[in-house]
Amino acid sequence: MVKEIQFTFHNGVKIPNIGFGTWQIPNEEAYAAVTTALENGYTHIDTALAYQNEENVGKAVHDFQLAREDVFITSKLPAQIKGYDETLQAFDETISNLGVDYLDLYLIHAPWPWTEIGKDCTEGNIQSWKAMEQLYNDGKIRAIGVSNFSESDIQALLDECEIVPMANQIPFYIGRDQESLLAFCNQHNIVVEAYSPLATGQILNSPPILEMAKKYDVTPAQLCIRYCLERGTLPLPKSTNESRIAENSQLDFSISEEDVRTLGTIEDVRED
Ligand code: A2P
Repeated sequence: MVKEIQFTFHNGVKIPNIGFGTWQIPNEEAYAAVTTALENGYTHIDTALAYQNEENVGKAVHDFQLAREDVFITSKLPAQIKGYDETLQAFDETISNLGVDYLDLYLIHAPWPWTEIGKDCTEGNIQSWKAMEQLYNDGKIRAIGVSNFSESDIQALLDECEIVPMANQIPFYIGRDQESLLAFCNQHNIVVEAYSPLATGQILNSPPILEMAKKYDVTPAQLCIRYCLERGTLPLPKSTNESRIAENSQLDFSISEEDVRTLGTIEDVRED
């Protein structure tokens, strides 16, 4: 983990600076993966109802016997669930799956269902957000946010709702810097969480990344994850492999401003 970098939401809640991502970790592998992450010092675990692994994420956290306040748990409202009552129901399902009585961070997973990317669901998002505000005010969630939201998706919430989102979780990695969205979030004091900081593994063989990693005597994955921190985003690397889980949290180096700029010029090589 990284001592010198801290993230604090606009309500004062602190979030550990590297999260263990569990997207694409099946439920049967999630227990071992999360246990390994906790053994390696991760105290921040990111899951979602849609990942279908909350049950074993929660079991691993429970069995590890950390005090509840010493572990930070994020989950997400499924992208296709929009509306006030529907959100309250999905939240109950999540905390029951996880076996906890509150969440540290709850996010709207996406502004539209994954089967209808780009659909205008503004009204549904506003209703979901109002339910999340209610859960937050009731003390059931310590921070609320969004994921995959564009500037206009966030602006719609700012226009209609009380609470400014505390986080926006977006795909962010070398080659996909999302400059204007990052600036918008910074301007509104919204922490940007970087999911797929390794572009799901697809940028690790990129020659300029390999070359820069050599210069710093780190692995390409460590360079990519540290890059997210240098850009002010909070990385959520995912792995099911013990040595890679450990490697991804050992980030005790820094990248010079000049090299951050150089890495920022790399083009997106990922094929979606
Ligand atoms: P594995 O789970 O076998 O380690 P992202 O975090 O961008 O979604 O990337 C996740 C992908 O990158 C997974 O396929 C994961 O595979 C792989 N990965 C994670 N950490 C490393 C690492 N340190 N070195 C190489 N590949 C990694």
